[in-house]
Amino acid sequence: MYKGARVLAFLLVFLSIVTAPLFLNWGKTTAAPEITVDKQAAGRVSGQGGAVACVEPVEIMSSEHMQLLGSWRDLVVREGKTHYVSSDGRMFEMSLDDSCLSCHSNREEFCDSCHEYMSVEPSCWNCHDGAQTIGGE
Ligand code: HEC
Ligand code: HEC
Ligand code: HEC
Repeated sequence: MYKGARVLAFLLVFLSIVTAPLFLNWGKTTAAPEITVDKQAAGRVSGQGGAVACVEPVEIMSSEHMQLLGSWRDLVVREGKTHYVSSDGRMFEMSLDDSCLSCHSNREEFCDSCHEYMSVEPSCWNCHDGAQTIGGE
């Protein structure tokens, strides 16, 4: 009897450890973060106040913003280019701080909360801090 109870207790502990990730992830998927766009800042940057659009269509941005940022960095750092013309003909300075983060000025609620949710940790913020300076705090 005594031995049976120990085996049972062991089994329970074992099971809860094995299935814990399942439950943790399950919790995560039901609690998606609220992703908000700072419409006011975006309006100021685009100079329209109100109807503003990201550099490229949202579907593309959602899945490919990292590639876009990577190509911007290469164009700026390796090729000395400064501006990007979007597929709908608008011109943007290729800058993480001055373009992306001046529209998305709420980095914590926007970029960071989605990345946390997706368990992605971009290393960019050691150097790019959204304060229009590179290498600053
Ligand atoms: C070790 C510091 C460091 C890290 C980390 C870093 N960068 Fe940079 N980045 C720089 C420097 C320095 C420049 C050059 C600035 C210039 O020439 O104007 C630059 C330029 C850029 C540019 C073009 C110019 C600009 O001002 O935005 C982009 C876009 C960029 N980086 C994106 C990224 C992204 C995305 C990440 C993260 C995946 C990242 N960087 C991580 C230091 C860094
Ligand atoms: C002119 C202002 C502006 C600039 C510049 C801008 N964005 Fe956006 N971005 C927006 C707006 C507005 C939306 C929301 C569009 C919508 O929901 O219809 C958005 C949406 C997004 C999304 C999609 C979020 C989702 O719901 O999936 C990502 C990711 C994103 N932006 C990243 C970036 C990155 C990275 C940069 C720089 C390369 C950038 N944005 C530059 C205004 C801007
Ligand atoms: C709606 C969710 C969402 C939002 C909002 C978002 N990202 Fe991301 N981001 C992701 C996902 C998911 C990945 C990982 C994609 C992959 O690994 O293929 C990612 C990856 C990245 C990477 C590459 C990281 C690496 O280490 O390779 C960079 C850089 C990045 N995001 C920058 C930004 C910036 C800057 C913003 C805000 C302007 C932003 N993201 C907003 C979902 C988001």
